[in-house]
Formats: sequence, structure tokens, C-alpha cells
Amino acid sequence: MASKSLKFIPLILLLLLLSLYTTPISASKKGGIAIYWGQNGNEGTLAQTCATGKFPYVNLAFLNVFGNGSTPSLNLAGHCDPASGGCVSLSSDIRSCQKQGVKLMLAIGGGIGRYSLSSKLDAKNVSLYLWNTFLGGKSPSVFRPLGDAALDGIDFDIELGSSQFYDDLVRYLKSYCGKGQKVYITGAPQCPFPDRLMGSALNTGLFDYVWVQFYNNPPCQYNGNITNLINSWNVWSKSSSIKKLFLGLPAATQAAGSGFIPVEVLRSQILPVIKKSPKYGGVMFWSKFWDDQSGYSSAIVSSV
Ligand SMILES: *[C@@H]1O[C@H](CO)[C@@H](O)[C@H](O)[C@H]1NC(C)=O
Ligand SMILES: *[C@@H]1O[C@H](CO)[C@@H](O)[C@H](O)[C@H]1NC(C)=O
Ligand SMILES: *[C@@H]1O[C@H](CO)[C@@H](O)[C@H](O)[C@H]1NC(C)=O
Repeated sequence: MASKSLKFIPLILLLLLLSLYTTPISASKKGGIAIYWGQNGNEGTLAQTCATGKFPYVNLAFLNVFGNGSTPSLNLAGHCDPASGGCVSLSSDIRSCQKQGVKLMLAIGGGIGRYSLSSKLDAKNVSLYLWNTFLGGKSPSVFRPLGDAALDGIDFDIELGSSQFYDDLVRYLKSYCGKGQKVYITGAPQCPFPDRLMGSALNTGLFDYVWVQFYNNPPCQYNGNITNLINSWNVWSKSSSIKKLFLGLPAATQAAGSGFIPVEVLRSQILPVIKKSPKYGGVMFWSKFWDDQSGYSSAIVSSV
């Protein structure tokens, strides 16, 4: 009976009802994709990465030597050599990205490097270095490896050494601003909560975006079953110091030791659950190079 009368509803009315029903829901839960760029010379330029239109956030990886009296060192793998001034032309890429509304962060730390903070004073020294060298501060151009364009913020990817004084570094960085621009603070903690090295920094509540690494961490990642990952997501989303939370994933099976999620599982089982969280911000991928190989971001960009 019901199906018989349904057939008489004009198609246009049905479509209107459908669009009224679905549009507000998907619009209010729209997230974005964050991506790491910089650790493989064969992943396209920074400008090309932004021009895809898929990534509202790009983290330049990595400043992997800093603090404790060391001379800071930026590593952009095969892209260019910062030490010899080979990366200053990135300034035009940075500007073209920002014109498209992409936020660019300098990622500090990483899995390979030599970095630590030895005191609150050291945190202040590093914060001034970051502000004057990569953000809105001033430094003679010979001391700005990416030229005079200013990045939007700093991404914390602290995976080595000690946890100390990163909370101070975050506070110092947040205290700077120039030309009405805010300094974005973002971070990529490991999913076991609280993060062993970044927990106290995150507790400042000053991070704008947190993209948790739900990979290389068997207790809280996808393992053929979404339960551990969803439980961990819920723990992170309950933390009062987290404002916007992203699901950090490897963009291909080879991009991490473990934790890869097949596209269909992400789309049909995981996104529908985590998008219900009011803090949901989107998905983060390691890395642009691996995403180029797998096509993951293209496959999910309309579902994020
Ligand atoms: C302060 O930071 C600079 C980098 O800007 C570094 O070369 C220097 O060693 C640091 N000073 C101290 C006392 O750690
Ligand atoms: C700083 O460097 C010194 C000497 O190289 C080392 O003994 C110390 O453990 C380092 N401190 C931190 C916090 O890494
Ligand atoms: C997933 O794991 C949970 C807890 O370990 C278990 O209760 C559940 O039955 C599993 N689901 C599937 C589909 O295997």
C-alpha cells in the first residue's frame, strides 16, 4: 500500500525532501585533510600539493635538529638544500598556498633527528628562532631558509628525547603575533593517551588542531576490527584540552609499520562514527608521497 502511494509523489518533491534531509547534516560535519610534505623529493612541489585543492592544512617536515645549544637544522629531503640557500624559492609556493586558504605549518621533531629542550630559557630561545626564521618575525634573509614568506604556525611531532619544556615552547610561540596574524599550533601525538612526550604540551589547551597518529601503535589502531581505534578516538575527544581532533593515518600500507585502513573501511565504518564527535576536524595523512602512490585522499575527500 505505502509503496503504491509513494509512486504518485512527483519525483521533484522527493528529491527536494531528500536534499532537505541530507544537506544540513553533511554540511555541518565537513572536515578537511591535513598532509605532511617534505620528506620525499618525488612528491611534487609544495605549490602543486596546495593546487590539488584537497588539503586545507600542509605540514612541512621536518626541522629535526633544535634546542639544547645545537644549531637548528631543517631537512626537506630531495626537495632542496636549506643549508645552502636552495629552498628560498619556496616563498612563492608558500604565498600561492596561502592565497588558496591553505594553512602551512613547520613540523618540528620527527622520528629521526637530534632535538630536546634543556630549560625554560632554552624553550624561549627556540621559540624566538622559530618566530624570526619561519613565522612573522624578522631575520636577515640569509637566516630564513624558506625566504621571507611567513608560515602560519608550528606543528609538534615530538617522537624522541624528553618531554620537558615543550609546554613552555607552546606558550612562548602563542604569545607572538604579527600583522594581525595568529600563530597556529598543531601536533601529531601517538594514540596511546596521554602521549608520553607531548602530553604536557597538549595540556596547555593551546593547540588549534591535533592529528593523532593512529598507526604504528597496535593498542589503539585499526587491526581488522575498528573497536580499539574508536575507543581511543573517544578518549582523545573527551580530553578538555583538545579543540579539533583529526584521525591521523598512513596514506598507503608501506607508509607505516602498521595501522593502514582500507578506503572502504574508513568510509563505511569509521568516518560515520567519528564524524558524530563535535571535535571532529578531519583526517591527516602521512604523507604526500605515499598519497600520490595510493590515491587515498582523492578516494575519500568527498566523504571527509
Ligand atoms: C639559541 O638558539 C640559536 C639558534 O637560533 C642557537 O644557535 C643557540 O645555540 C641557542 N643558544 C643557546 C644558549 O642555547
Ligand atoms: C643536552 O646536551 C648535553 C650535552 O650534549 C647532554 O648531556 C644533555 O643530556 C642534553 N639535554 C637534553 C635535555 O637533551
Ligand atoms: C572487535 O573486537 C571487539 C573487542 O576486542 C570484540 O568484542 C568484537 O566482537 C570484535 N568485532 C568483530 C567484528 O570481530
